[in-house]
Amino acid sequence: MQESNNPLAAIVCQNLQTAYLAALQRPILNRVNFTIQMGEFVTLLGLNGAGKSTLLRSLVGLVPIHQGSVAIAGIPLSSRNLPQIRQKMGMLFQGGGLIPQLSAVDNVLCGRLGHVSSWRTLTGFSNRDRRHALELLDQLGLKDWASQKTSRLSGGQQQRVAIARALIQSPKILLVDEPIAGLDVLAAQQVMDTLAQLNYDGITIVAVLHELAIAANYAERAIVLDQGTVIHDGSPHQLSGHFQTQASGT
Ligand SMILES: Nc1ncnc2c1ncn2[C@@H]1O[C@H](COP(=O)(O)OP(=O)(O)OP(=O)(O)O)[C@@H](O)[C@H]1O
Ligand SMILES: [Mg+2]
Repeated sequence: MQESNNPLAAIVCQNLQTAYLAALQRPILNRVNFTIQMGEFVTLLGLNGAGKSTLLRSLVGLVPIHQGSVAIAGIPLSSRNLPQIRQKMGMLFQGGGLIPQLSAVDNVLCGRLGHVSSWRTLTGFSNRDRRHALELLDQLGLKDWASQKTSRLSGGQQQRVAIARALIQSPKILLVDEPIAGLDVLAAQQVMDTLAQLNYDGITIVAVLHELAIAANYAERAIVLDQGTVIHDGSPHQLSGHFQTQASGT
């Protein structure tokens, strides 16, 4: 059986090469190869500009693939397969991307917009969707904040709203881009513990992190990018000395 058809694999990247339309001459990812199995917790490390966010965006079809292939849960990534793939995969973008004027629960409901057949207003969501959004906020310790505008929440609370928004899609795979950037130690730990719990519950996690110590605490595997190329794929504990500093971008 070909690896890209392996239904047990969450993500298979084979010789992936991508570039942004605005800078086609310069590949941002260069022959990236890896397979992530269902249930893994993988951290993606690298200096600023190494290509980490580009890699995550490529996996959800937001950056065109020039060469190579990607398969998500055995489904080859293509524009035709995108709706099916996005039902399996949730993404938390760098910076959270919440709408500050909307309440926490309405931000979470935004995650369902791709699932409704017509463009309804947020107040037009079914009670079932709204109940689900409230349950997720409750699970993430934000029950009392559900109707607060997200602009009034702390950074850590906002990150957890963004996680709830990704989870309302019931993903098997969750891609998270710098979920703890700018958070204090306690808030960062709460967000990381939330991700660890989701992983324990069976969700495959791929998290871009900058702090190697945290990465080593939570992930069993680190993939390190340098100028769009994978330079390490293995235990985060194998990263040491100067290489460690370089990989985590500190
Ligand atoms: N929309 C874009 N158009 C053109 N080039 C881009 C675009 N976004 C990013 N790049 C370039 O792609 C390269 C990789 O950027 P990317 O955002 O993937 O890095 P990163 O590893 O996520 O960095 P950081 O740690 O700063 O978030 C950079 O050289 C960047 O300038
Ligand atoms: Mg980035």
